[in-house]
Amino acid sequence: MKNKYILVLAACFSLGGNAFAEDGYALAQKHMCTSCHSLDKKIMGPPWRSIAIMYQDRPDAEAYLIGVIRNGGSGTWGDAKMPASVTVGDADIKAIARYILALPKE
Ligand code: HEC
Repeated sequence: MKNKYILVLAACFSLGGNAFAEDGYALAQKHMCTSCHSLDKKIMGPPWRSIAIMYQDRPDAEAYLIGVIRNGGSGTWGDAKMPASVTVGDADIKAIARYILALPKE
């Protein structure tokens, strides 16, 4: 049920063009994501460029990342835990997910 909601939400927002992507990094800074993530170095979480490469062929990548950012996760990249982002709004999460997936894959 929750996943279905996220997919519908993703579909709505995908009409919005790429204004989202441009603000992605600023939003990630604002929400403190950058204390554990950087573009291309592992801090506590995986580098965002590696995430972009890992999911580039996954058709539901955007919905998947939105789910992980919202609910947190662990075990995909190691033992460290990605915290749930309880205070981050849906639009910001969406924008950050799009920003990560749009990064150059090299
Ligand atoms: C306390 C450190 C920490 C913070 C803060 C944090 N992350 Fe993470 N993040 C992690 C770790 C650790 C992982 C790896 C989890 C795993 O192995 O499954 C991760 C994984 C991810 C992934 C990849 C998930 C996957 O399944 O491959 C994305 C995307 C991500 N984080 C985005 C964000 C965003 C956006 C924010 C800010 C809203 C954020 N993170 C804040 C530590 C953090």
